[in-house]
Amino acid sequence: MTTLLMFTISLNAIISAVVPLPFPDCQKGPLAAYPICDASLSYRVRAMDLISRMTTTEKITQMVNTAPAIERLGLPGYEWWSEALHGIAYSPGVSFGGDFPSATSFPMPINLGASFNTRIVYQIAQIISTEARAFSNAGRAGLTYFTPNINIFRDPRWGRGQETPGEDPFLTSRYVYALIDGLQKGDDPRYLKIAADCKHFNAYDLENWNGTDRFHFDAIVTDQDLVETFLPPFESCIRDAHVASIMCSYNAINGVPSCANTFELQKIARESYHLDGFVVSDCGAVGTIMDTHHYTKTVQDTVAVALHAGTDLNCGDFYLKHTADALSNKTIVEADIDQALQRNFEVLIRLGYFDSPDGQPYRKYSKTDVNTDVAQVLSVQAAHESIVLLKNQNNGLPLKVDTMAGKKVALIGPTANATILQQGNYYGAAPYIINPIVGFQAVTAGKDIDVQFAYGCEIAGTDTSGFEAALQLARSADYVFFFGGLNQSIEAEGLDRTSITLPGVQMTLLEQVANISKAPIHVVIMSGGGVDLTVARDSPRVDSITWMGYAGQAGGLAIANVIFGLYNPAGRLPVTIYPTDYVNQVSMFNMNMRPGDANPGRTYKFYTGEAVYEFGHGLSYTTFSYDWGQPSKISVIDITTLMKTGYNDRTITDTYRVNVTNTGMVAGDDIVLAYVKATNLPKFIQPPLKQLFGFERIHLNVGETQEVFFPLTIRVLLSVGKDGSTWLHPGTYKIFIGNDAHISCKIKLVGISSRWA
Ligand SMILES: *[C@@H]1O[C@H](CO)[C@@H](O)[C@H](O)[C@H]1NC(C)=O
Ligand SMILES: *[C@@H]1O[C@H](CO)[C@@H](O)[C@H](O)[C@H]1NC(C)=O
Ligand SMILES: *[C@@H]1O[C@H](CO)[C@@H](O)[C@H](O)[C@H]1NC(C)=O
Ligand SMILES: *[C@@H]1O[C@H](CO)[C@@H](O)[C@H](O)[C@H]1NC(C)=O
Ligand SMILES: *[C@@H]1O[C@H](CO)[C@@H](O)[C@H](O)[C@H]1NC(C)=O
Ligand SMILES: *[C@@H]1O[C@H](CO)[C@@H](O)[C@H](O)[C@H]1NC(C)=O
Repeated sequence: MTTLLMFTISLNAIISAVVPLPFPDCQKGPLAAYPICDASLSYRVRAMDLISRMTTTEKITQMVNTAPAIERLGLPGYEWWSEALHGIAYSPGVSFGGDFPSATSFPMPINLGASFNTRIVYQIAQIISTEARAFSNAGRAGLTYFTPNINIFRDPRWGRGQETPGEDPFLTSRYVYALIDGLQKGDDPRYLKIAADCKHFNAYDLENWNGTDRFHFDAIVTDQDLVETFLPPFESCIRDAHVASIMCSYNAINGVPSCANTFELQKIARESYHLDGFVVSDCGAVGTIMDTHHYTKTVQDTVAVALHAGTDLNCGDFYLKHTADALSNKTIVEADIDQALQRNFEVLIRLGYFDSPDGQPYRKYSKTDVNTDVAQVLSVQAAHESIVLLKNQNNGLPLKVDTMAGKKVALIGPTANATILQQGNYYGAAPYIINPIVGFQAVTAGKDIDVQFAYGCEIAGTDTSGFEAALQLARSADYVFFFGGLNQSIEAEGLDRTSITLPGVQMTLLEQVANISKAPIHVVIMSGGGVDLTVARDSPRVDSITWMGYAGQAGGLAIANVIFGLYNPAGRLPVTIYPTDYVNQVSMFNMNMRPGDANPGRTYKFYTGEAVYEFGHGLSYTTFSYDWGQPSKISVIDITTLMKTGYNDRTITDTYRVNVTNTGMVAGDDIVLAYVKATNLPKFIQPPLKQLFGFERIHLNVGETQEVFFPLTIRVLLSVGKDGSTWLHPGTYKIFIGNDAHISCKIKLVGISSRWA
């Protein structure tokens, strides 16, 4: 259990890290004589040869994340565990210092979900991989990153939902494709730029709730939910984006711990999605197969079930300690070890680790490639794009800075001066962090505007001693902002929420401020997970509500730019915001997406209650109109004909073209969302209430029109049956654009229900 404890400490606490040793010397070192250093050979042959040079004892040392050097062979030690969730982050493989004191800190993935912009995700990933290579070349980071987290944000209480782009499998699939592309591919097609790792495979989205933690949790998942909700992001990551590794999770799935789960790792990841790379255990998740899941009784069997399922690398030290025992007890054979090492080393070879640095562009990156102007501008842009304006009564926003001379602006609340909080979790040392106060000061500089701050209260706790000063400031101000939200003591790795309201005395403070202030209130929320804002939404005293997630190093500047109209917000909620009582209506242990006993349904696709704010909601300072002229010509599809012609699920049957026009007074972005809704299928199918199948973020000047298009593939019309099979069912399918179905049309599927796959 010591191992377990060691690895469950908050990653944020890791500040001193191992500096990786340099690259292997393939020119003059002992390895130079062997095929591993011959770049003309295939990576399979090279890895096989390297492994064949090792003794059994040496091999076992290479099965864990902190792999020591094998001096005899000239193989340097390698730390497999680096992190880069939204910028290079503190982790065992990463060390900040010297010429590399910091790295660009972008907004959290939940923000990138809100941006609905896969282009910016790709650009960010390119910068992260460039900075990672620069760090690696200086011996300050590895080449293998345990990034990204693509589990579906199934329940608003989940402490790590902030690490994901939200609750929608389609959005998450698109996000991860762009991200992996940007991390792994660069200017040199011969090599992986860095190796990414899609985690946590699978059905991992519970930290610690009602006395059961992730090390003990057995997620009971239906085949239907697996195929429809939990697998698509991994399919996109593995099959389409060709990620170099995946991580098996702490939880069990239907009774089998993930890292021992042959069905998940072998059948799905390798055989179905053709994973070409390694599986790494979450840190300590080999030991938990036995220690917490009690799936095995002996260490020898534990090593065996993990290796046989295909867990190639152990983050932790269980393999190091117990693989020799497993060999001597014959629960495994040496070939099992060889297979695991083969998959691990192949990835290092594909990274150019054993090749001469000459002619490798990635080996040329240096400190001048870190925190570049381009990266800094992008960090602001990403923060801009991720901010969601939820309410804007009386056009309370934007404020017009030129009309505010001599006025006082009050910033009240515990997140107005947030710094590291804006980095969420899995962060590194940022070059700077602009808090909202500094952002407001920057935007109002030289305008004779008095920006004042009162903390008011803590994020959590019952202390109201700061109220008086806050109320006094509110009373005297011409403009009043309330900055509230969550922090990493409320939602975090290892920590789920039990309530989805604003914690502590924040709501009391907000109500009192609203009561006392002569000016209308503007509310700004920093959080990963959704917070019930019904009171603020319904209060005539609250003019605006803005959600800003954890917006990274430039978050405070971005929010000020939005407030003062220097940037017109366009982000959309990547999650459903539920009413407070949601947490009493469904257990976190209930993995079912569809409504049923003690479950009102999960996410916009299945939630049957009334959301406080819906997935996809977000306002702008301008207005847009949608027009698609004549709706699609194809309105009837004959299933029988379709089945005969042998289309695949990506076949495009039609394309919806929509003209979007900016009909308002200012330029701005619009996010055009395309949904499908099946209307008269048999009840037993329980189709989603609606389902996103396309999105596009566009920029439009005043009066400008742009055409966007959404291909309709067969896949969009498929229903997933209880057993996970996919079907085409006859019925009427409504296609609509925008959350409020600005425009819509219908497709009829005729014929008889046919099994697709
Ligand atoms: C493994 O081998 C050791 C030493 O040979 C033996 O004492 C032990 O009982 C064996 N354990 C199992 C589970 O077979
Ligand atoms: C924000 O201000 C409060 C009250 O002055 C202070 O206690 C807190 O440390 C500040 N937070 C940061 C991150 O500076
Ligand atoms: C979150 O806020 C609470 C209450 O203000 C504070 O005690 C705690 O240290 C904060 N947590 C972090 C991680 O900053
Ligand atoms: C707001 O003012 C009303 C009327 O004066 C009072 O009844 C209410 O208690 C006040 N609310 C708060 C939160 O102070
Ligand atoms: C939570 O734990 C309590 C106490 O063990 C138990 O009574 C209750 O049924 C649990 N709730 C759920 C949803 O599992
Ligand atoms: C969009 O507008 C352009 C220019 O007016 C027009 O040519 C095109 O047909 C329109 N497209 C749609 C889908 O209405």
